Amino acid sequence: MSGHSIRVPDLKAKKARGEKIAALTAYDATMARLLDRAGVDVILVGDSLGMVVLGYENTLAVTLDDMLHHTRAVVRGTERALVVVDMPFLTYQVSVEEAVRNAGRLLQEGGAAAVKLEGGRPVIDVVRRLVDVGIPVMGHLGLQPQSVRQTGYAKSATGRESADRLMEDAIALRDAGAFAVVLESIPDDVARMATQSIDVPTIGIGAGPECDGQILVSYDMLGLFDRFVPSFVHQYAQLSESIVDATRTYVDDVHAGRFPRTLAKT
Ligand code: KIV
Repeated sequence: MSGHSIRVPDLKAKKARGEKIAALTAYDATMARLLDRAGVDVILVGDSLGMVVLGYENTLAVTLDDMLHHTRAVVRGTERALVVVDMPFLTYQVSVEEAVRNAGRLLQEGGAAAVKLEGGRPVIDVVRRLVDVGIPVMGHLGLQPQSVRQTGYAKSATGRESADRLMEDAIALRDAGAFAVVLESIPDDVARMATQSIDVPTIGIGAGPECDGQILVSYDMLGLFDRFVPSFVHQYAQLSESIVDATRTYVDDVHAGRFPRTLAKT
């Protein structure tokens, strides 16, 4: 599939062919350009923006304007990957009408290809209406960070009843037209059952190896966000250390008069 831009139906086709989907978050044009160049299939402008870029405690303070601003930047840096944007807290829970207007802005003004929103049956009318008016929706089940005040960050669907609820929510999302479903922090066997029960891709984060794809917060995967590292993250680089080391050297060079005198190219 390399060469052409990835579109929403390509993800379902990938699942049908048994090809895994690699997704990462990005919040600015430079990171998006690098991830896109490396061949990532989906770039999510996640509302994790709140923690890893804006310095908030959680995602609740992130606004639609924040997401629009960062989505435009990511879209400018992306040529091939599918750009999906999170609908922030309170932009889709109040009414279906508000949800359509806000999601529409993320596509029309932000340039995203699709939106993601958290929840299953409680938001199913919103999902159905968005899909009906041509706005592709990625669902998000399991741990839902926008509900942190109610649930905390504990693993989700660990008991029989909550696992059954998750399965029903996954099927409801598929029936409402969601084109993919993120499964966050749930047991591997529940993720496997959900993946087998729906014909649209599941994208896991802390949900084991049997989802149709995987997503990570890029700042976690690259070792850039060092305030908290979730147990399921593999750090493919330690960029925070590289940045601190490089900066320390620069500071020393400036203080000692080595830069720009002897080190600058021109
Ligand atoms: O906001 C985000 O980055 C997310 C991913 C963790 C799935 O929703």
